[in-house]
Amino acid sequence: PGTDRALSFTVNGEQRTLDIPVQATLLDVLRERLHLTGTKKGCDHGQCGACTVHIGRDTALSCLTLALSCEGREVTTIEGLAPAGELHPMQAAFIEHDAFQCGYCTPGQIMSAVACVGKAQAGDPDGIREFMSGNLCRCAAYPQIVAAVQDVAGGSR
Ligand code: FES
Ligand code: FES
Repeated sequence: PGTDRALSFTVNGEQRTLDIPVQATLLDVLRERLHLTGTKKGCDHGQCGACTVHIGRDTALSCLTLALSCEGREVTTIEGLAPAGELHPMQAAFIEHDAFQCGYCTPGQIMSAVACVGKAQAGDPDGIREFMSGNLCRCAAYPQIVAAVQDVAGGSR
């Protein structure tokens, strides 16, 4: 049992204010309070990357992020990449390259991939693998994921 505190932040471009337990993680607030279930809970311990979101321009593991630390920040989830329902180029590239099987890791992979390109870290496969190394894929779709990221980084989309 904890105390609730007010949190005001921006999620996918929308201002949100809600009362949350002080110990709530960003992941649980996104999924359970804001019903943004695209962000996945894999390990809940910072080891799989399934919960990756953007805070500002940086990637963050939402399972390790206290929601209250996002006060005043801009959080983007996988839902925020396609606000009008039209796929983000990275989403389209993942589909085209078959960069997933079960899909559980995919939202986190895509959030990291977008940041990888945005931060100009996608120049070569090794750089992509290094940047994306915190995103595990049990289905081992790694070659296809790298191909999708390279495709977007190369500007063909
Ligand atoms: Fe956050 Fe696995 S659920 S890293
Ligand atoms: Fe299944 Fe990556 S597609 S875990």
